[in-house]
Amino acid sequence: MIAIKNLRKSFGKLTVLKGITLSVRRGEIVSVVGPSGAGKTTLLQIVGTLSRPDSGSVVIDGVDVGRLNDNELSTFRNSRVGFVFQFHNLLPEFTAFENICLPGYIGRRDRAEVEARAGELIEMLGLDLRRDHKPAELSGGEAQRVAIARALINSPAVLLADEPSGNLDSRNRDEIHRLFLSLRERFGQTIIIVTHDDNLAAMADRRITMTDGVII
Ligand SMILES: Nc1ncnc2c1ncn2[C@@H]1O[C@H](COP(=O)(O)OP(=O)(O)OP(=O)(O)O)[C@@H](O)[C@H]1O
Ligand SMILES: [Mg+2]
Repeated sequence: MIAIKNLRKSFGKLTVLKGITLSVRRGEIVSVVGPSGAGKTTLLQIVGTLSRPDSGSVVIDGVDVGRLNDNELSTFRNSRVGFVFQFHNLLPEFTAFENICLPGYIGRRDRAEVEARAGELIEMLGLDLRRDHKPAELSGGEAQRVAIARALINSPAVLLADEPSGNLDSRNRDEIHRLFLSLRERFGQTIIIVTHDDNLAAMADRRITMTDGVII
């Protein structure tokens, strides 16, 4: 599902990725761990097409994303990649339901279909009673579950999560961790999770350690 070859990326004189090669199978959950500054977020952003590498390639579900122009990339990202960040990044003026639906509307999908899918996700993530609440009225765990639903609304090929439970207490953390496992069971979702949490890293099928821009 994901084939990363020899990725390199520098910011000025600082080389952050020094030749990263990694393949992830369909339905596999891979965790990426490593010290602060190792290049984990940089890697995830390149895999998610939010940033371009200096060299190397990323192929997602058969598409070499380096060959797409900016317009094609936006469409690809909207439909094929789901992101979950450490802080939920929900839009404060919209309800949970509206936040979940937005990537579907942006992708110009059929409105009824998007809203039906949002309804399913809300039920699956146990958010029924929070559907019409705005982010400020949600707990941290609830907001993060809304962010996960938003990431899944367009049924992306890959789900990328950057410290998704870094900001939660242990009960909510466990819940989010179980959720990732059930997503794989239920949708066969391919997932890369960057985390500092040992429990979450250990739940993955495979744990990858990055240090100083390389996989060790
Ligand atoms: N846009 C940027 N411009 C300049 N330097 C950057 C930029 N983004 C990241 N860096 C630098 O690249 C290095 C790797 O950053 P990155 O965010 O990928 O680390 P990380 O492994 O995710 O760390 P953490 O665990 O703290 O989140 C750091 O030294 C960081 O300061
Ligand atoms: Mg990071």
